[in-house]
This record gives sequence, C-alpha cells and structure tokens, in this order.
Amino acid sequence: MRKLYIGSQILLVIGAILGINWDKWFGDLPEPDFVLPDKVQRLFITPGEDALHERTLSWVSGSKRAFCLDLLRDSTLLKRIHAAHHVVKSGGGTTHLYHAKTGALTEGAYTYRVVDEDIEYEGNFRIKGANTGRQSFIYIGDIQDRWPSGTDTLVMEVQDRFPDVDAWIFGGDMIERPHDRHWALFYDAVKTLAPSTPFIPATGNHEYEMGLNTDLGDRWVHTFVMPHNGPKYREGITYYVDYPNVRIVCVDTNTYEWNLPQTNTWLQRVLTERRDSPFVIVVGHHAVHSVRKGRKNYLVHHLLGPLYESCGVDLVLQGHDHAYARDGQNPVYIVSTAAVKHYAVGDPEAHDFSTTGGRYYQHLQVTPDTLFYTAYDKGENEPFDQFFITKE
Ligand SMILES: [Fe+2]
Repeated sequence: MRKLYIGSQILLVIGAILGINWDKWFGDLPEPDFVLPDKVQRLFITPGEDALHERTLSWVSGSKRAFCLDLLRDSTLLKRIHAAHHVVKSGGGTTHLYHAKTGALTEGAYTYRVVDEDIEYEGNFRIKGANTGRQSFIYIGDIQDRWPSGTDTLVMEVQDRFPDVDAWIFGGDMIERPHDRHWALFYDAVKTLAPSTPFIPATGNHEYEMGLNTDLGDRWVHTFVMPHNGPKYREGITYYVDYPNVRIVCVDTNTYEWNLPQTNTWLQRVLTERRDSPFVIVVGHHAVHSVRKGRKNYLVHHLLGPLYESCGVDLVLQGHDHAYARDGQNPVYIVSTAAVKHYAVGDPEAHDFSTTGGRYYQHLQVTPDTLFYTAYDKGENEPFDQFFITKE
C-alpha cells in the first residue's frame, strides 16, 4: 500500500513538471509577426516523378491572386497553366503560396512567366535530354542559418563550379525554424539558383515545429510540391523521383517512428522494384551511422540501415550531425553539413573516414554503369573525399 502511495505521488510530481514545462520543452517557438510584400517572390523549381521531363514551379505572394504560369519556347507560348493557390496562416502572419505543374516537357530551353494581368516574374530553365548518358547533382547537408552566414557565397561558388547539374539535393535542416524570417534567409541564400535549377529536398527536424516532430506545417509542402508517390500520411514528404540512371528516394526520418510499417513496406517496394535505373540513392536527415559525439539514431540505425542493405541501395546521403563521415560500401553512407554550426566527431575509429569544421558539398555524377562521388570544402579546389561505385 505504501509503495502504491509513493508511486502515485511520483507520477503526480512528474505530471505536474511536464504540465508546467510542456510549452517550454515541446511547444512551438512563437513566430515573429511578418507581412509579405504583394509581389511574386521565392520562386522554386522541383522535379516531378519523371525528373528529367516534369517540373513544378512554386512561388509566394502577399495576397490571393489569379496567377497563371505561361510556358514559352523560342518566344512562342506553349501553354498557360492556372496556378493552384494555398493560404497558410501561421503564428506570425499569412503566406499565399502558388504552384503550377508543367507536365512532361521535351528537351530544350524554356522561358516561364508568372502572369496576373501583367507579367509579374520571368525566368528560365532547361530540360536536358537522356542522350547525355549522365546525370549530375549537388548534395548539400544542413544549412540552418540563424543569420546570413555566407551560404549565398557558398551557393554561388558551387554554381560557378558546376553550373549544369540536373538538380541540387538537400538533406534537411535547410532552415532554422519554420518561421517566415528563416524561409526568407534560406531563399536569400539560394536566390541565384532556385528559379532555374530543380531542388530535391528531404525534411530535417528544423523544418518541423519544436517538440515531437509532428507538425511540418503547410509552407513546406506548398513550397516543395514533390511527387505524391510516398507512403500513406507522408505523401509529398517521403517520395521518389526517377532519372534514367538513378532513382532518388527522400525519406522523412523525423516521423519514421510514427509511420514505421507504412514506410518500411513502401521502401521495400520502391527500392527493389525500381524499373530501369541502375542506381538508387536514399536521402534521409538522420544518419544510420551517426558521427556526432554521443548521438545514435536507434530506429534509423537498427531498422532503416539493414533495409537499405538488403534492398541494394548504393548511396545514402544524410545530415543532422554537423560533421562529415563516410561508412560502408553497400551502401556507402555519407553524413555531411554545409552549416557554420559544427559538432565534434564522437569516435573517429568508428568511421571509415570522418572530419568536422568545414562547410561541405558533394558533386555526384551518375552514368549507366558508374556513380562518381566527390566531396569538397567551401573555398577548396581539391576534393577531400572521393570514390566511385560501379555496376557490372
Ligand atoms: Fe537536424
């Protein structure tokens, strides 16, 4: 009886502490007030499931408008697409998000115009042909700027160096918090790139509201309008896109524990039934082999790692640890970061290669029989890590 009394008192105290501190520990950080100017801004391009041929353009404005997207080739109007509109009310204000899907396009250069009554924005993008025999990508781990930290110069450096890649892949934590000022910071860092080059983003924990990582918010899904080919409840967030030489699968590792059976069944299918693409790359924010001191992502390590290995994944791109590591061969696991925030490597002996303190990025090239990987540090010409994976 006495034990029962003490037990219930302990539970009561724990409940009271949780109740008092719930908002502080698990609640959302208040978003500062904002008012967006009434102009077309924050243009992003993302690929459809057929990543070589399909594009979605998204943008933001300060009010509800009847926007269309005009698609032109050689100054000739090919099609006019009525934009979808979503209004997102967050703690600090209102965001009007728009997107338009182009459908399948043939190889060549395109001009697009965001049109209301007048032309409000004009940009260009290119659809590449499959006959180049090679697709290439940039991978960027965490950015997570709290203030301008030189990410824009990193982006321009990489753009100058690799101007013609098929897409930039992001491993999550692109923004510090899902607040307008952090979205603005991210867009300012990638503004030279985003209106013309497709982005393939995975979600990080910082894209979610603080706490139990259950609220991604609607700004992400209406900004990055990705293929809805993912598992139930994660459509458009966990997804894949296909290039001729590679399937790229982005997994929302933040909510893995809440959607474990659906995600595993879906991964088994899309990793093994992958049509003609010889290579498969998985992108997931939390690392199978964490490099940060004292960190282990247990479910990702014990469940996703063996699944990737049994399904023949070639390369896994990860983040979250603000350091660099390479592990294994089938697949090769990479942890990387492009942020100014750095963490120490916990146990260098536990990794095939590890380092920290830099702002890293990767250049990937995929042919029908070889995946070439090179990793660079900002401002350095020579790669600090490289390898290739071949298929017979
Ligand atoms: Fe993270």
